[in-house]
Amino acid sequence: MKTWKKLGSRQIKERIFEALDKNKSFFDTPLLGVPASHLDSKVFSHSMPFLQDAPFLTAMIHNPNHIGCHTLGESESFFRGTHELEREAIRICAEDIFKGAPDQQDGYVSSGGTEANIQAVWVYRNLYMKKYGATSKEVGILCSEDTHYSFIKAANLLQMEIEIVKVNPMDRTISDKSLELAIENLSRRGVKYFVGVVNMMTTMFGSVDDVDQYVQALEKTRQPFKIHVDGAYGGFFYPFSNSNNRMNFEHPYVSSITVDAHKMLQAPYGTGIFLARKGLIEHTMTDSASYVAGLDLTLIGSRSGANAIAVWMILMTYGPFEWYEKVQTLLLRTQWVCNQLKELGLDYYRHPFGNIVTIKAGQFDPGLAEKYSLVPNDHHHPDWYKIVVMDHVTIDKLRDFVEEVKLCETQKV
Ligand SMILES: Cc1ncc(COP(=O)(O)O)c(C=O)c1O
Repeated sequence: MKTWKKLGSRQIKERIFEALDKNKSFFDTPLLGVPASHLDSKVFSHSMPFLQDAPFLTAMIHNPNHIGCHTLGESESFFRGTHELEREAIRICAEDIFKGAPDQQDGYVSSGGTEANIQAVWVYRNLYMKKYGATSKEVGILCSEDTHYSFIKAANLLQMEIEIVKVNPMDRTISDKSLELAIENLSRRGVKYFVGVVNMMTTMFGSVDDVDQYVQALEKTRQPFKIHVDGAYGGFFYPFSNSNNRMNFEHPYVSSITVDAHKMLQAPYGTGIFLARKGLIEHTMTDSASYVAGLDLTLIGSRSGANAIAVWMILMTYGPFEWYEKVQTLLLRTQWVCNQLKELGLDYYRHPFGNIVTIKAGQFDPGLAEKYSLVPNDHHHPDWYKIVVMDHVTIDKLRDFVEEVKLCETQKV
């Protein structure tokens, strides 16, 4: 690990307060032209004594704006202290977690996984338009049916084609034949440039795509293509549960990655991460954002620096080894629940390196799914219910669920 090192809470606090000091404060500098301020002091007290020990809440109150992308070019000078923390968090993700070469990636803290996925597709669509004179409709997204719906939004917003590849219902894999068929369908609709989306743990199943399967199928087209990894859910999990995986910047074809910090990392909502190899994000430069220093390359525009600080704080509090340990604990819990389901003879899917267990519906009382807030794949016609083994999903809670399923089984006999 080059940048990622565990820090003590005092060091973390000092770094954040130092960063806030480097920013131009709305409180004591003449920031006359910025159309924003610190949080309203009538509503959000600035003088609570505990704030001295609460760097994240203090950052919220100071309200730095992180508009733009801070890994290249210029940025607003007013908030340079906290931009630096964002840059460090991006570097940890791109280089230490996703194995990128030093200084060879750009990225920013987005509003979530949806934005980061749309940003990726937007970058590639514009690249093909600029480099090859493509029209939007000549650029197509290729993804599996387990892929998050943000790519359907992206295709709709950006007026692109999209083709969804069917998965095998029990092991959630796709066949080479169905992938080739999907590519043929796109080509038939006039698509000449492709964006392959590979999942690092899907929303409903936690399944993981085979990046090389996509690369090989797309190489056969002899047309330009790019690969985006959607690690919104799995980005802070899978690299630690299966460290030999190939879905990172060491893979020559992986050129961008989405990660969400408001899922496994337990950052506040509104915290996603977009990462891309250098030379790509410039394709979404909005030149007309002339009042923003460094212009703007992001989809979101203004955004809170506190979210970036939350990512930095969480990463530094754990450090790489304790984070690894946390993932291992969740894997053990997941294995425990899988063993129980196996004993009960229930059908379920779980990726061997994942912490999502998706149980086939119809095998237990749906009232239990409601009582334990298991999430269905479709609220009207559930075929599957998922358990996501997060920090708060303890063995005790899992045991209560398993015991109730057992009780229902015995009452049936
Ligand atoms: C795999 C995957 N991608 C993208 C998203 C979208 O993330 P967000 O809800 O943060 O926009 C999700 C959300 O569940 C997801 O699981």
